[in-house]
Amino acid sequence: MATLKESLTGALPEKELALVPSSYDTVGDLAIFSEFPPELKKKEKLIGGALLGMHKNLNVVLKKVGTYSGKFRTPKLKVIAGEDRKETMHVEHGCRFRVNPEKAYFSARLGGERKRIAIQVKKHESVLVLFSGIGAYPIVIAKIAQPQEIVSVELNPYAAKYHQENLRLNKVFHISLIKGDVVNVLPKLKKKFDRIVMPLPKGGERFLKDALQCSKKGTVVHFYTFSREDALGKLGKEIIEMCKKTKVNAKILDVVPCGHFGPGIVRACVDFQRI
Ligand SMILES: C[S@@+](CC[C@H](N)C(=O)[O-])C[C@H]1O[C@@H](n2cnc3c(N)ncnc32)[C@H](O)[C@@H]1O
Repeated sequence: MATLKESLTGALPEKELALVPSSYDTVGDLAIFSEFPPELKKKEKLIGGALLGMHKNLNVVLKKVGTYSGKFRTPKLKVIAGEDRKETMHVEHGCRFRVNPEKAYFSARLGGERKRIAIQVKKHESVLVLFSGIGAYPIVIAKIAQPQEIVSVELNPYAAKYHQENLRLNKVFHISLIKGDVVNVLPKLKKKFDRIVMPLPKGGERFLKDALQCSKKGTVVHFYTFSREDALGKLGKEIIEMCKKTKVNAKILDVVPCGHFGPGIVRACVDFQRI
């Protein structure tokens, strides 16, 4: 299949053609350009239209008009072509997620990572998913592993609304969603979990101490963070040191890179076990 640039040949002068972005994210039937060159502002409708013409499964083209920001990690988006909406239905591992990426963080690129976690979960486990967003981690875990109990915690009211709706859509009724700040919610939980998922790569360390209060010997933690690619080898040791500061001993099970964040920077999941 022709690339977007190739499909625009003749429609744009060479100088502009060279600037056409070659990558974009898809969430359901939305295509999202992360970095759309300002020089192409007047041609955005044409470029978006060309993309829609190439992919029949896409109905809306958006561009980010700011970076991921705020505690909810949401970007401002602008529709540049197609239907005038930002909400969609995304399908992943047989699960359906209703989502508006401008209101609640969601990355389709993490689908493989969610499955990697889900297939480790055993039926007898109780699982705590912090920073659960629209419910993608807990729902994929519920569908694939059917563990005894899942508790999820999310602060953003829009994300929590989609999370609730997605529970109904996927007919998973044994997930308890707690709406609120992890800092306030965890001390009240008074429960020890077999597994804790912490998908907050920017600043997740601030919540590690509270999360570990909900752990016991043997608990497995999936802790996400950003790291320089060349410093990945040191990550495990750093996390063990952080745990020690809260008087918890841990051993590293795995350090898994799961996506690029910027030049030389990766998102990584440190899987560790309390010992
Ligand atoms: C990077 S997103 C991950 C969302 C989701 N787990 C996913 O992968 O699609 C982080 C999420 O944590 C939520 N969040 C940030 N700080 C929080 C806090 N203190 N307590 C609860 N949720 C929080 C944000 O609203 C956001 O939905």
